Amino acid sequence: MNQFTVSTVELQAHEYAQLHPSEILAAAFREFSPKIGISFSGAEDVVLIDMAAKLGADFRVFSLDTGRLHPETYQFIETVRDRYSIPIELFFPRAEDVAALVREKGLFSFYRDGHKECCGVRKVEPLRRALDGLDAWVTGQRRDQSPQTRARVPVVEADSVFGSEDRPLIKFNPLANWSSAQLWFYMRENDVPYNPLHERGFVSIGCEPCTRPVLPGQHEREGRWWWEDSTKKECGLHAGNVAELAAAR
Ligand code: ADX
Ligand code: SF4
Repeated sequence: MNQFTVSTVELQAHEYAQLHPSEILAAAFREFSPKIGISFSGAEDVVLIDMAAKLGADFRVFSLDTGRLHPETYQFIETVRDRYSIPIELFFPRAEDVAALVREKGLFSFYRDGHKECCGVRKVEPLRRALDGLDAWVTGQRRDQSPQTRARVPVVEADSVFGSEDRPLIKFNPLANWSSAQLWFYMRENDVPYNPLHERGFVSIGCEPCTRPVLPGQHEREGRWWWEDSTKKECGLHAGNVAELAAAR
């Protein structure tokens, strides 16, 4: 079976779960190139780009530039662009939406009102535009990133948030079953460049005001939106994880 469709994808998730992430990526590219994009956050998901480059497939890479990333992350995106000689498309929030939000609520409303509104403007709306014209996208989500919201992430799924009946969209999470240790082993073995923030205690990396390093023994997700309940720590890019969690309760 090779045809990934909304109706068959659940079965395929089981079939592909045991495969190496690179084999999952290869299957994704076989079916969807060039209408497939890797969503690159400027963190450990660089592994996907390394694997994709080695496969020599025709794929796109995009990053959502929220305007609030760390300087190190911007530099790292540039490093990856040079290292792999690939274009990285940047998607920006709509200027008028950001202006309206900060005029009304200031630059740090997320600490008060929660991150959903700001993420909606700076990440979710741009992601919709990034996915326009694509039939599939690839993320670096892993189950071990969050016992609360990502414990059931499959290697491939139908995207019910950004796709629809009229416009089916398949979402690949090739690293879903890899641990952080496996990922870092791969990075060392393959001399993959990494975001220098990792050398300063950052594990999970998002926007600068909403990310902090974690202490030994703390879970990586504790460094993200630390002022919020751990079951709500999804920004909308992967809202399906939270919906699924609610349905399972
Ligand atoms: S988040 O939703 O909480 O911010 P996380 O940082 O764990 O997500 O990253 C998981 C995956 O979401 C990344 O590997 C990437 O595929 C996608 N992602 C997250 N942030 C971005 C971003 N700014 N640009 C592009 N993709 C992103
Ligand atoms: Fe805004 Fe923080 Fe979300 Fe970035 S992570 S878009 S700064 S709320």
